[in-house]
Amino acid sequence: MKASIFSYVLFLIFTITTQSIFIFTTTNTASAAEVVVRDSTGKKVLNNVRYHVAPVAKGGSIKLTDTINKKKVCPFDVVHDPKDNVGGEFMFTIITNGVVKENYLKTERILGIDSGYPKGACTESTFWTINDAEAKAPPANLITTGGGFDTDLTCFQVVEHPKPTNKNSYMLQHCPSFCGAGPSTCFNISLSSYQGVNRLSTVGATPFEFVFHKIAS
Ligand SMILES: *[C@@H]1O[C@H](CO)[C@@H](O)[C@H](O)[C@H]1NC(C)=O
Repeated sequence: MKASIFSYVLFLIFTITTQSIFIFTTTNTASAAEVVVRDSTGKKVLNNVRYHVAPVAKGGSIKLTDTINKKKVCPFDVVHDPKDNVGGEFMFTIITNGVVKENYLKTERILGIDSGYPKGACTESTFWTINDAEAKAPPANLITTGGGFDTDLTCFQVVEHPKPTNKNSYMLQHCPSFCGAGPSTCFNISLSSYQGVNRLSTVGATPFEFVFHKIAS
């Protein structure tokens, strides 16, 4: 009798210890990859707040447009404008399923990106979306708008650049399976020209390295 109580207590201690080691290691690895994102001046980037976004290498900025090669488009497209140093206002919102409210944007967290542009006649949503990340050629793999929050097509994450050329610069990845169904890999977003316009897409060898700029108030 005594022996069996003793072994039961031993078993309990063993279970609790291994469980806490398990929880400790899993939470540790999860938080190790998550880093608070910084803007170009080194300030923490706020979650769910509008910022300008600019590529590091090419100058100019990212903006939303309703016109491509003199033709109106709806939903709107996300383009690089080499001559515009301000660009559009983009809101990165971490998907938390309402469990924890995040004050700051973090790397390696799934998020939606909303352009919130005045829509006019175009009533499509302004969430960044990629219709077919695996498409070998544009336009199916271009970032446009028109998606919903927290779906596979609109699922992105900000990641640290392995070899940043600038302080506080990041890369963007599209990870469909992190939010829903779809290819279970993350696609690097890069900047390349399509029909004479620089666009963000899942094609291209050099990842789009960018910085966040606070919006002048
Ligand atoms: C994404 O870009 C990084 C940095 O250039 C590179 O190391 C990595 O292999 C790329 N991933 C894919 C899937 O192309």
